Amino acid sequence: METFYKKLLENNKEWVSKNLEKDPDFFNRLADGQQPPLLWIGCADSRVPANEIIGAQPGEVFVHRNIANMVIHTDMNMLSVLDYAVNVLKVKHVIVCGHYGCGGVAAAMTNKQFGLIDNWIRHIKDVYRFHNEELNSLTVEKERFDRFVELNVIEQVLDLAKTSIIQGAWKNGQQIHLHGWVYDIKDGLIKDLDVTFKDNNSLSQVYQLDL
Ligand code: CO
Repeated sequence: METFYKKLLENNKEWVSKNLEKDPDFFNRLADGQQPPLLWIGCADSRVPANEIIGAQPGEVFVHRNIANMVIHTDMNMLSVLDYAVNVLKVKHVIVCGHYGCGGVAAAMTNKQFGLIDNWIRHIKDVYRFHNEELNSLTVEKERFDRFVELNVIEQVLDLAKTSIIQGAWKNGQQIHLHGWVYDIKDGLIKDLDVTFKDNNSLSQVYQLDL
């Protein structure tokens, strides 16, 4: 354990010298500020590191991660990240990236009690209920699990579009595109679910805010 911990600090020093070798101004430029074009909302899963899987450099992605990449409207952490990304950083894209084999989604498929986290997982169960018919029609468990992961991403993209933050930005003429992706842990590839929202007309009327 101790060696693992020490190794991390050694890795950091190596990383710094490698970057300075390539570009002596690397850290000076980053210290000047950030203007990432992208907000990433992903799962906290250790196997889905946002920057690495899309080849992004420091300064290119604003990142928020939680269990099962959820967009929950009472989550002050998520809302603060979204507000800052949209209204201050003026990101052009928001990507919700789920992943196959997601433990949070798997937990939501069971009736097991896990403790405090049940309150978080309940939001994922709501997604199951919205798509009850389609999911129950998939009799192969793996297929049902994979589709649940995809539908959860789609619902989280919708939840993003429902926020006053995103609708307000659209109203002000800001170009923000919302996307839903699923990462496959088995081969490293990302599937674009082609849920693309760029204005609030893509929302059911009941969610459209008069801003
Ligand atoms: Co996950």
